[in-house]
Order: sequence, then structure tokens, then C-alpha cells
Amino acid sequence: MNTGHVELARAQQERWESAYARHPQLHGSEPSAAAHRAAEAFGAAGIDDVLELGSGHGRDALFLARQGFSVHATDFSEAALDQLRHEAQREGLDDRVTAALHDVRDPLPPADATVNAVFANLLLNMAFSPSELRSLVAETHRVLRPGGLFVYAVWSTADPCSQHWKQLDNGLSMNDGFVGRFFAESLVAELGENWQLDDATPYDEGQRRMLRVTMTKPQKPQKLQPES
Ligand SMILES: C[S@@+](CC[C@H](N)C(=O)[O-])C[C@H]1O[C@@H](n2cnc3c(N)ncnc32)[C@H](O)[C@@H]1O
Repeated sequence: MNTGHVELARAQQERWESAYARHPQLHGSEPSAAAHRAAEAFGAAGIDDVLELGSGHGRDALFLARQGFSVHATDFSEAALDQLRHEAQREGLDDRVTAALHDVRDPLPPADATVNAVFANLLLNMAFSPSELRSLVAETHRVLRPGGLFVYAVWSTADPCSQHWKQLDNGLSMNDGFVGRFFAESLVAELGENWQLDDATPYDEGQRRMLRVTMTKPQKPQKLQPES
């Protein structure tokens, strides 16, 4: 990570923290479309526990808990996690939802191959350098057990905003002080190396054009493709 990126990341963390403090329940209480997809995919695979990355104030963690999943939610904003804990307690879901502060640029806490499912809505498109993004996906792969599922959703390059936001280095864009990345399908494919890529589906959510991805950690390591 270069120094510019450390500063960018710190500034983004402060921005999210103050956004959640100023606007409790910033993302509303309705679960995301990706959370519905995750509930379906995890349920069909007989999975009942989920690690959520970048949960914010937990609209999706609470939804998954209401569906019967146990959810360990993480984010780098303590203000957002406080709102999640409070809401989980208010709804009587605190036995199924835990929340912990974690910056996903650091290694994920679980041991190798101990997690059944990972969910991340609108996290991978945050202010990560390409190498931070690859490390995050590699860490997710490391903690999942073989056969475990990763469902994530990101902004798509098909979103008209991708043309209007100020372009920064490393494929990142900025609007109103928030920095993020619009994903091309080629990036989804690149991050899906070493995975079984089950689906990468474009969809609309509000005014956003999105991509929703489901990947499985293969039972056996993927064979390297011979060089041509
Ligand atoms: C667009 S919000 C989405 C929140 C939530 N997933 C939802 O859909 O309601 C992005 C979230 O990612 C979190 N985030 C951004 N960078 C992060 C990082 N490096 N580590 C952990 N969380 C991060 C932010 O605090 C914010 O809660």
C-alpha cells in the first residue's frame, strides 16, 4: 500500500464514520437485492451462518438474521456497528447477530477454511487499490471452507455515473468526497480466478446499475492454465 493510499483510506474511514453519525440508518431499513440473492443461495446450500463484510448499519445483516441465519457483521465504522447492535437488540435478534470493527485491508480474523459463507454488498467497490482488492478476495478465499460461497454486489461500469464522477488514479472515481470503483465484467472475471464463478448478473437497484456475483471456493485447488 503506498502512502497516498493509506491517507485516502483514512480519509474515507472518517467520512463514513461521520456520515453514519450524522445520518443514522443511512441506507434505510429495506434489505438490498443482493441480500435476497444471498439468502436464497446460502439457504439452498444448507448454510446457516454468514460473515458479512462492510455491513454498515446492518440492513442486510438484520434481514439475514430474520431469515434464520447467524450473522457476524463487520465494518470499519463503529458508529454504523453501534446502530446495528442497537437495532438487533430492539428486534430481539442479538442472539443471531454479532458485530465487530474490522478494516478489510487487514487480514480477515477467521482461521483458514472455517467460514461457510461471505456476503458483501457495496464493499468491493469502495476505495481499494487493485492490490488491496485482490488481497481482500484472496482473504475471503482463504477463510472459506472448500465449497463455501461468496456473494457480493458492486457498482457496474454500465452505471451512467461512472462517466460523470471525477476520475482518480487506479481506476477509482470520486463524487461528493466518497471514493469508489465501477466494476467491468472483466474485473469480476479476473477476481474470480481460483473460484468457480456461479453467476455475474447485471441488475438495477434504485438509480444504480449493479453487478451481483456468486462464487464458490472449489473443493480442490483450480489447475493452472497452461501458457499458450
Ligand atoms: C455503500 S456502504 C454499504 C453498507 C452496507 N453493505 C449496505 O449495503 O447497507 C459501504 C460500507 O463499506 C464500509 N467500508 C468501506 N471501506 C471499508 C474497509 N476498508 N473496511 C471495512 N469496511 C469498509 C463503509 O463503512 C460502509 O459501511
